[in-house]
Amino acid sequence: MSTSTTAVESPSPPRPPRSRTWRIVRRVLLVLAALLLIGTALLAYAWYTAPVDTVGKVPFDRRLAIPPLAESHVDNGRRVFDLTAQQGTTELMPGTETQTWGFNGSYLGPTLRAERGEEVVVNVTNDLAETTTVHWHGMHLPAAMDGGPHQPIAPGETWSPTWTIDQPAATLWYHPHPHGATEDHIYRGLAGMFILDDPESPAAQLLPHDYGVDDIPVIVQDKRFDDGELTYGRSLFSGTGRLGSTLLVNGTYGPYLDVATDLVRLRLLNASTARVYDFGFSDDREFDLVATDGGLLPEPVSLDRVLLSPGERAEIVVATAPGERVELRSYPPDLGGDFLTERFDGGSDRFDVLQLRAADELQASPDLPASLAPAPALLDGLDSLDTTREFVMSGRSINGQKMDMDRIDTTVEVDQTEIWAITNRDGNVHNFHVHDTQFQIVDVDGQAPPPELAGWKDTVLLRPGTTIRIALRFSDYTDPNVPYMYHCHLVSHEDQGMMGQFVVVGRGESAGEVDAHSHARH
Ligand code: C2O
Ligand code: CU
Ligand code: CU
Repeated sequence: MSTSTTAVESPSPPRPPRSRTWRIVRRVLLVLAALLLIGTALLAYAWYTAPVDTVGKVPFDRRLAIPPLAESHVDNGRRVFDLTAQQGTTELMPGTETQTWGFNGSYLGPTLRAERGEEVVVNVTNDLAETTTVHWHGMHLPAAMDGGPHQPIAPGETWSPTWTIDQPAATLWYHPHPHGATEDHIYRGLAGMFILDDPESPAAQLLPHDYGVDDIPVIVQDKRFDDGELTYGRSLFSGTGRLGSTLLVNGTYGPYLDVATDLVRLRLLNASTARVYDFGFSDDREFDLVATDGGLLPEPVSLDRVLLSPGERAEIVVATAPGERVELRSYPPDLGGDFLTERFDGGSDRFDVLQLRAADELQASPDLPASLAPAPALLDGLDSLDTTREFVMSGRSINGQKMDMDRIDTTVEVDQTEIWAITNRDGNVHNFHVHDTQFQIVDVDGQAPPPELAGWKDTVLLRPGTTIRIALRFSDYTDPNVPYMYHCHLVSHEDQGMMGQFVVVGRGESAGEVDAHSHARH
């Protein structure tokens, strides 16, 4: 007899009683249900506590700090500035000293100001305990002067970039750019404005231009505090990075501004690391948008909201009536995502930003000029608007690749007009910033840009699923070995690798190799 027959004949072994299996299954189901319940509760809790609304809760009892204009001297025909990155403590919140970083002080930095045609030198000294860099955001300059990750300044060292200002009047800014640590360095307080003037621009003289009087820097940042110190955590559910519930303007909490003229020009800079603001006034009054990232618009654009993603600037001119008070606010920005993303990325948040207090008698301001500057004309003379390059943003990558300091991703020939198509494939917002140049927006999902996006830009918001095409041209400076950057300016994304490197080369020249010793270490 075969063993198998034996097996068949033998009584089957007792199966585990059905009730035991069921008990195990039931236990697993119970655990899963409990987890689901906890998960849902957590999400519900996060959902209900996520929105920040500070309207009516901001005291407006501190005078807005105005970053001082940086001192400079002229040496051999060059305007020389000195900046020192340092640490210190700052009374950000009333009665509490917070550890912060700043340039020539403990928080933020002085406003640099220079004229078109001037040659500038900035001596940047690093008094911090770690390597940093200083990048001139929006500036047209040689790659070796750009202050990106390839121009590290080690602790105790001084870096002295020099270049000639050659672009229209604009509100630019400067901030660190060490690869992987940019978010922290900016968040701790390293940032400042860089205002460019253009003596050839007649309109600039007709706009309010008395710095700190009727021409006001407005550097907006959101912070999160724990026990008096800045916290560096990130929300579990936010796709965009660190979002704070406390706003500072020029480092001032609860600021007001005394206004003495009919018109005041606000140079808005979103120097936050992840938050998008939709600025407007408490009574929805209209204001004139006169400039975007790269300078003056062709003509003033009357708006009641202006949306700024991290890194973007807008210059607005607003009228006040004698004796009145009105608040600049940030309204819930349209982030174009689903309801969950919107909620957790700040799409429901509302802030009181800055109170304007008009004097009982206001000095008359000149009327706004009807036309401001020539419109960008990069498309003129192009025989086709074909896309030259495509950039797909998804996850923390661009075109499927994360930033590699040794890899040159894109090689561009000098003086060629290119059309770049940038697509956001994600469910949350990104934005796209290009170094060295200002670009012109060709279309947004095939539509001509609205007037507020029709001027010179260096950073643009991309809502989920959007494709934006930009025209750009790199001129004057070539260097096959030193790259410039393009990246998402939601700086935690940038730090996590959503950045690429390009070199500008001469006609027919090819890209070289990145100098391995030029890397910022941190
Ligand atoms: Cu404002 Cu590459 O940066
Ligand atoms: Cu930049
Ligand atoms: Cu991003």
